[in-house]
Amino acid sequence: MNAVDIEMNAVDIEVVGLEKRFGNVAAVHGATFTAPAGQVTGFIGANGAGKSTTLRMLVGLTTPDGGSAHFGGTPYRALARPSRTVGAVLDIAGAHPSMTAIGHLRTYAALGGHAPGRIGDVISLTGLESYAHRRIRGFSTGMRQRLALATALLGDPAVLVLDEPSNGLDPAGIVWLRRFIRQFADAGGTVLISSHVLAELEQVVDGVVLIDAGRILWSGTRTQLVERGGLEAMYFQLAAIGELA
Ligand SMILES: Nc1ncnc2c1ncn2[C@@H]1O[C@H](COP(=O)(O)OP(=O)(O)O)[C@@H](O)[C@H]1O
Ligand SMILES: [Mg+2]
Repeated sequence: MNAVDIEMNAVDIEVVGLEKRFGNVAAVHGATFTAPAGQVTGFIGANGAGKSTTLRMLVGLTTPDGGSAHFGGTPYRALARPSRTVGAVLDIAGAHPSMTAIGHLRTYAALGGHAPGRIGDVISLTGLESYAHRRIRGFSTGMRQRLALATALLGDPAVLVLDEPSNGLDPAGIVWLRRFIRQFADAGGTVLISSHVLAELEQVVDGVVLIDAGRILWSGTRTQLVERGGLEAMYFQLAAIGELA
């Protein structure tokens, strides 16, 4: 793939006291954390922990019951050109099966008001060259993930919000994705990426936010995490002090 070689504006993500209930379920309770520009922040928690609900609230797809999320000081809904600030991959089900990859990207480029020349850029950034003219119907989950990422990159955003993007990726795809997000952050971008697999992100993240049963259990740098024995050990320590049910 090509390097992400353009320095970006620094846009931090600041999340303060986010709340979301679904009936009796407190899906997210008082979530407060920061994902700084120039860093990869891993958002780690088991299935049902509240990762997707939190990420959906960040980009206005779910309305919070309380709290706030800001991108460089501005809520998502108040951003002048949201897709130029934040690229989000939250759900890969959206692409129409009879469309080709390039047709899908043309549609989204038109919708977002992005330059047509950007389509070729995102195809090469995500390694979709040989898939560009194929119909999405025949795509593996991994290729759908790449197409969703390509779509999110159309606006050349400073921030990437990725919900479990390694689901369905083969090992080579996971290595590719890690390298991609590392380069994106090294160029000044902000990456917030969720996973339920502890080991998957440990090598690539600068910061870690642990969520369990809707509450942020711990957040800190990878260095602090390593000092405490890694993610697995952290979970055991939190369980031992009664932080985990
Ligand atoms: N639309 C919804 N309606 C009702 N409950 C939901 C909805 N979305 C999520 N939940 C519940 O909220 C909790 C957190 O879910 P989610 O944010 O999807 O977790 P994760 O992404 O970490 O697996 C779970 O208990 C889930 O069942
Ligand atoms: Mg989820």
